[in-house]
Amino acid sequence: MEEFARIQKYVELIREKTDFVPEIAIVLGSGLNEFADKIDVVTTVKYADLPGFPTCSAQGHIGQFVFGYIENIKVVIMQGRIHYYEGYKMSDVVLPLRIMKFLGAENVIFTNAAGSMRVDYKPSSFMAFTDQIALFVPSPLIGENIPQLGARFPDTTAMFDKNIRDELILIARENNIDVNCGVYVQAAGPQYESPAEMLAFKLLGADAVGMSTACECIAALQMNMKICAISCITNYESGLNIDCPPLSHQQVQEMANKCVQDMEVLLKNLIIRCKQKKLFN
Ligand code: HPA
Repeated sequence: MEEFARIQKYVELIREKTDFVPEIAIVLGSGLNEFADKIDVVTTVKYADLPGFPTCSAQGHIGQFVFGYIENIKVVIMQGRIHYYEGYKMSDVVLPLRIMKFLGAENVIFTNAAGSMRVDYKPSSFMAFTDQIALFVPSPLIGENIPQLGARFPDTTAMFDKNIRDELILIARENNIDVNCGVYVQAAGPQYESPAEMLAFKLLGADAVGMSTACECIAALQMNMKICAISCITNYESGLNIDCPPLSHQQVQEMANKCVQDMEVLLKNLIIRCKQKKLFN
């Protein structure tokens, strides 16, 4: 099936279950699922209830859309990502995001777990994206041109909305939460980086590394969504020569779990304040 028809089919299937029109999409990263329990849930739609929909195999990724309210603001949460390392095509990886846009979400806040390549970006702190490097995975825009999604050759100069990021930094300061700014690089994974790879990423100008998000940001940019992306720093990279236990997915999830409360403070305030200040689309 042609890709745009596939997106439309799923939007229609979801419309049979709910007429909820979200304003903001939120994508939850590894270990951050609990945030979905903190909103006033209206309804959920499981990926598994949508025929042929990609499913999440990554541990800690539940695989459903959660529709609900933060105060009176309508949001949809992607509770569970599809990752490139699971063997999916990039068009599958960004399918849930594209669906959320066509359900009404003109804004997106991405979260993820990431490894730090800077001594001063400590585990349990956060990093707001100022820019990204997506050269190590295929672009989700490769393939047939889908004019309904947006430009064929989107300009990536200003992917991440500065006003929203500035608001995030303010909220972090007010609440004593350690949030830095930096450049995120997406690796294909699923293996973690070798010390030499991390040094290579650092030389390229990246501050944190993960296995998602940058490709999704490209898809969001094409659709003209306002974008904010926040990494939860779960670990130092091995090449930093900081004495750390060997890295595991469990360790990443546990650290992200510890950060859920801070993430909740950041996300809720960010959404409420950006709405008040009319910073969203
Ligand atoms: N590398 C890649 N992805 C990650 C990491 C990492 O160190 N930590 C959490 N996700």
